[in-house]
Amino acid sequence: MDRFLIHGPCTLSGSVRVSGAKNAVLPLMAATLLSRGVSRIHNVPDLRDTRTMAKVLETLGAEVHREGSTLTIDTTAADGVDAPYELVKTMRASIYVLGPLLAAKGKARVSLPGGCAWGPRPVDLHLKGMETLGAVVELEGGYIVARQPSGGLTGGDMDFETSSVGATANLLMAAVLARGTSVLENAAREPEVTQLAEALVDAGAKIEGIGTTTLTVEGVEEIRPLEVTVIPDRIEAGTFLTAAPILHSKLKVEGLRPDHLGATLEVLEACGCSFQVGEDFVEIDGSAASAPVNVVTRPYPGFATDMQAQTMAVATLLDGISVITDTIYPDRFTHVAELRRLGAQIRLDGNSAVVTGVERLSGAPVMATDLRASAALILAGLAAHGETLVDRIYHIDRGYEQIERKLAALGARIERVEGPPTP
Ligand code: EPZ
Repeated sequence: MDRFLIHGPCTLSGSVRVSGAKNAVLPLMAATLLSRGVSRIHNVPDLRDTRTMAKVLETLGAEVHREGSTLTIDTTAADGVDAPYELVKTMRASIYVLGPLLAAKGKARVSLPGGCAWGPRPVDLHLKGMETLGAVVELEGGYIVARQPSGGLTGGDMDFETSSVGATANLLMAAVLARGTSVLENAAREPEVTQLAEALVDAGAKIEGIGTTTLTVEGVEEIRPLEVTVIPDRIEAGTFLTAAPILHSKLKVEGLRPDHLGATLEVLEACGCSFQVGEDFVEIDGSAASAPVNVVTRPYPGFATDMQAQTMAVATLLDGISVITDTIYPDRFTHVAELRRLGAQIRLDGNSAVVTGVERLSGAPVMATDLRASAALILAGLAAHGETLVDRIYHIDRGYEQIERKLAALGARIERVEGPPTP
């Protein structure tokens, strides 16, 4: 099992280019099941999760080929309806095939995703969404089994009691082929959901209200295969931007959408960073960053829960007391114990972490527990004095394309080393 060996402290300089958004490409790959033919998705990052989703599609009978950063997905022979536990347990986003399979094939049998590092992640809203369209949904042996009613799916109205990215995407994809009108209230409007809706419209779907919390879908008989270029990954961009304050560095993050980073830039400004914002880049100067921050995660356009761990790493070295509250995932704090091993002073109080800044962090062996916690540990390791060994970095390979190469190119001392075989 690979590990990252990091020597700190270091300062970074230069520029880094952001890859395509993991959380945009996964639903787009699933949406190719809505039509028969050859879809092309450009600017696809090469990640464990995109490779897993490709395997899920191949299990369903699709052919997936990568040429550079373009994925060609041929669903002509995609007649399968089963997404097996072996694959779904490694990536909960596999549940994105539920809506497309139900709508396009009349049936879906998708393993219930397990929990994740920070606790249960229910899928009740996904199932409710399918039922809104008239589907019969049952749980059989750890699998979700959804079937169209005899007359096929019909449009329905869903008012999401919680803003859910995945459930919005799943219902949106199914509603596109349901007969009649569907209205999704309190729909998620993360940029990744907006891109999915736009790609579906480009393929012939009828969706109004894109970018708002009310989406209205007019079902159509069929849509064409997709042709879409994945938006930049706003979380990867945010992760590199937070390297500036924690390492008191100046760097340029390129190939991003500044309009997707509003809440992140606000927090970076609050801790004392300054920046130049261009059309597709941000040049950030974190050399004077020292002020503590108060952060509360919210659905987009609020501060992203996926930036919570990275921001906590920054807060460990800010002056005074920072408070970081996660309202999306109240227990998404598995990185706290690992940051403490590096000398951070953090007290948990319900769904808030109270972080008291310290003079310095000291290197130590730590263990990654999930994707964004891994990023936080890498950032903290780069700032810590001495050697930090981050174990279980398969987590980070799920969502960051060659992160150690990108960081090394900015001047970081980080290398991937073979770990001992799993005990
Ligand atoms: C997506 O997960 C992202 N994953 C997550 O990113 C991200 O943290 C999350 O949205 C929130 O922004 C992908 O896009 C692949 P949700 P998702 O449904 O769709 C509750 C990363 O690091 N909920 O928006 O699973 C849920 O418990 C990953 O890239 C229900 O109650 O998240 C949470 O409190 C981690 N019932 C809230 O909604 C449901 O059926 C938001 O979850 C579904 C969700």
